[in-house]
Amino acid sequence: MCGIVAYIGQREAFPVIIKGLHRLEYRGYDSAGVAILNGELNVYKKAGKVSDLEAFVKEKNTSGTIGMGHTRWATHGEPNDRNAHPHFSETKNFAIIHNGIIENYAAIKQELTQRGHKFQSDTDTEVLVHLIEEIHNNGKFDFDESVRLALNEVVGAYAIVILSKKDPNKLIAARKGSPIVLGIGKDEFFVASDATPIVEYTKNVAYLNDGEMAIISDGELTVKTIGNEITIPYIQELEMNLEAIEKGGYDHFMLKEIYEQPRSIADSMRGRIDSKGLRVRLGGLGEYENKFLNAKRVIIVGCGTSWHAGLVGEYLIEDLARMPVEVEYGSEFRYRNPVITEEDVVIAISQSGETADTLAAIELAKSKGATIFGICNVVGSSIPRATHAGSYTHAGPEIGVASTKAFTAQVTVLTLLALQIANRKGTITASRFQSLLNELESIPEKVEKVLKANDAIKKLSEKFVKARNFLYLGRGYGFPVALEGALKLKEISYIHAEGYPAAEMKHGPIALIDEEMPVVVIATRNASYEKVVSNIQEVKARKGVIIAIVTEGDTTVKNMADYVIEIPECDDILLPLLSVIPLQLLAYHIAVMRNCNVDQPRNLAKSVTVE
Ligand code: G6P
Repeated sequence: MCGIVAYIGQREAFPVIIKGLHRLEYRGYDSAGVAILNGELNVYKKAGKVSDLEAFVKEKNTSGTIGMGHTRWATHGEPNDRNAHPHFSETKNFAIIHNGIIENYAAIKQELTQRGHKFQSDTDTEVLVHLIEEIHNNGKFDFDESVRLALNEVVGAYAIVILSKKDPNKLIAARKGSPIVLGIGKDEFFVASDATPIVEYTKNVAYLNDGEMAIISDGELTVKTIGNEITIPYIQELEMNLEAIEKGGYDHFMLKEIYEQPRSIADSMRGRIDSKGLRVRLGGLGEYENKFLNAKRVIIVGCGTSWHAGLVGEYLIEDLARMPVEVEYGSEFRYRNPVITEEDVVIAISQSGETADTLAAIELAKSKGATIFGICNVVGSSIPRATHAGSYTHAGPEIGVASTKAFTAQVTVLTLLALQIANRKGTITASRFQSLLNELESIPEKVEKVLKANDAIKKLSEKFVKARNFLYLGRGYGFPVALEGALKLKEISYIHAEGYPAAEMKHGPIALIDEEMPVVVIATRNASYEKVVSNIQEVKARKGVIIAIVTEGDTTVKNMADYVIEIPECDDILLPLLSVIPLQLLAYHIAVMRNCNVDQPRNLAKSVTVE
């Protein structure tokens, strides 16, 4: 939530910052703003997208080699010009940008108001920059120390960058709970919420740790804790390349990412399967494999699409490794009083690796002695650093807000994990293990085949542009896919959609069915095929419109359904990887035809770093 980017060096800062803001816009796009330090501290900000800000500053003076920018996902205060970042201090000598929430802002604001401070916005952020100035003016503290002392007074989460008019060659950044990456170039430094604004300029990055601040001045970087201890930043090389974060000829990132799935699924398996030697090896499991083998229970935590991948994981681990599994929303788990023991293994799934609720669930489980295994996409993000062990999904940057390739990569890694544990526990026969590995390796090719249905799905989508509701049904491995299909549609097309276990339909949703209700059914030839066929009959008997995802060559469902989309035959456990693809495309085309902004759907953000 909220993207921040800053630059200090020899170049003009503004173009670097605007480009960076466009790359970070997936994190929020309610308003945007920049501050440029050039003798003066000029702040320009505007409600709306980064492009609105660009239009607004066209005739303004944006020259300068130090600056920062922000794209906002509103928490405190509605998305208008006033609440957009950067925020000034009382005298306008300091300006701040912030991603996170200052939880005790109300108490600090009250105190500062009593001392005569006047606030221009409704945000929690503005309070922090006033506090920094108050400390600076009251004591004998310099810029760095004022920031450090202020951060010791605030409760909550932050990634911030602060500039001071009186320190024209300095930039200070700090983090607690929200991410900050530092890019280290030749005589220049970049600060950003993730590496995408940086990769074009340098591959050398360092991730700030929680409770650390970076002071960049006169070509020097100093990192210290807010407890005032100097730390040495660990500089690493970025694996990301520029093409990965550009649209590459596609109309939208979402479509590009859907089409990348044959590659991204293959990448998430790469080096992890030895089908001849009959082995799966998730290197990240390391010494923690035994914890898995001896665990009494597996708890999977995640949010949104990652939670849906978790549901697939539940079926896989129960099915193959014969272990009891529970799947939890991070947000619920963290505030319950869950029973967790040292014999539990928690799998935390997150594309961004930054989701606040998932992170909090990890901390809770860790404090009770559980072993935490992370499945994340963004390298170096907070969750992989908070877990004991883990595997990256290697899907590459996912920019479209609606998750697509991250989901299939998460499911691929969960499949590998279930197979590895099953193999080690002896809960799977050698022949089944071998055939599943072979099938898994053929999935990228089969996904390629499913993608060939794109034109047909686009045509089909025309019929549903005006639909107001959609129902998605699936059973067994098809059920999480139904949930994910419904989520995709509602996220980007704003059509109300619900996913349901097919058999549960008669306990409620069946009341909604009439000729206006499209029902998407995962009706592939798998363990529950016959039952799902009966559910289709029930929908048809009530004049519902059936769009069925079927196994190639199926004629039974074809004769019943209004529309069918074929997918290649596959083992039940691999069904989610193939059946979700047509649902992603269906949601995409319907949303495009409804003129929705598919990459930046309203009110959503890709990385949810607040509760
Ligand atoms: C947001 C995104 C979803 C994502 C969810 C969890 O809601 O819009 O696409 O599934 O957060 O994010 P994570 O990064 O933890 O997978």
